[in-house]
Amino acid sequence: MQGQQLGLTPPMGWNSWNTFTWDINERLIREAADILASEGYKEAGYEYIVIDDCWSLKERAEDGSLVADPDKFPGGMKALADYIHSKGLKFGMYSCVGTHTCAGYPGSFEHEFQDAALLAEWGVDLLKYDYCFKPRHVSGELLYKRMSLALKNCGRDILFSACNWGEDNVYHWIRESGAHMYRSTVDIQDSWDSIKSLTLSQLDKASSTGAFCHNDLDMLVVGMYGTSNSGFIGAAIGGCNDIEYKTHFSLWSLMGSPLMMGNDIRKASRAAKDILMNKSLIAINQDIEGRGAYRIKPEPQWFHTDEVFMLVKVLTDGDLAIGFFNLSDGQKEISLQFWDLGLPYASGKALSLYDCWEHKELGVFKERYAPVVAAHDCVVVRAKLV
Ligand code: GAL
Repeated sequence: MQGQQLGLTPPMGWNSWNTFTWDINERLIREAADILASEGYKEAGYEYIVIDDCWSLKERAEDGSLVADPDKFPGGMKALADYIHSKGLKFGMYSCVGTHTCAGYPGSFEHEFQDAALLAEWGVDLLKYDYCFKPRHVSGELLYKRMSLALKNCGRDILFSACNWGEDNVYHWIRESGAHMYRSTVDIQDSWDSIKSLTLSQLDKASSTGAFCHNDLDMLVVGMYGTSNSGFIGAAIGGCNDIEYKTHFSLWSLMGSPLMMGNDIRKASRAAKDILMNKSLIAINQDIEGRGAYRIKPEPQWFHTDEVFMLVKVLTDGDLAIGFFNLSDGQKEISLQFWDLGLPYASGKALSLYDCWEHKELGVFKERYAPVVAAHDCVVVRAKLV
């Protein structure tokens, strides 16, 4: 058992929901695993293949067990898990705190220990646990504690991915519950407005993430370009452009969110792949100390709205990851005074900057750095003290 290491850094993988919602099957999941293993994603750090909602029959079996839908998954979950494991990957599944999942399939309420045992038997490595149809008389906090207890004692390492959309003051109790990651936001949509609003909602939550319990801003929409089969999530909304996906990925990386791809990776564009496999950004996201990113408002502060800001993440080796984000609709100069990083000019120290998207050294700077950033774009640097 991996035990102590489970969930140390933000989990990375692929989840079926954003693009496919209900339209899932064994073949799709196997193909996703093939792509993860053969196209460099695995080496980049993506390891979990997660089946979201809509995988089971609408009724439990007579003995109370969940049953995988035999039309969608004729080979059964154990064989699928074995296949995913044979590719050196891990297998994630989905259930819900309540009596039903959000799409109306059986939830795990009052079946927690039985379901955890079945998941372990199948070879599951991650459980996403949703919040629909929660009976009113029991608190969500208690039900997450309950499933955590069941998972931690099921005989298998199963990473616990809570999903209560930031409700019921989740920040105040989720780490104690035993969850390794927790959704803090409503569902993401494949749109710039959604990316922006999820980001702004979590900017003051820098201290609510960290090793073994990561604030999850929801799955990535990078590379979807409006292709979701759900009007609610995507198709009707129209998607984003590559600049916006780059900014989305930079925000999620710096803010320490799990990186769960949600696009059809069988058809990923070159641009989407380059974004999803940016090694410098992934290294920042996976930094072992798992510190949240603090926000700095650019000077002059009265001039900028909340849509223009810097995020700074202190890294284990002493470097700083710094993102200059322009979520506004016009080009902006974003000025960083090194004083605001704790670096006074009088120290005689400077910062050597590496541009994580241009993949090049920018040089050594004293006192300030002020890139001009296009609308919806960002600049991310890794800064070394010299
Ligand atoms: C939502 C959840 C989504 C997805 C969906 C499935 O509650 O936030 O990520 O899992 O349920 O029905």
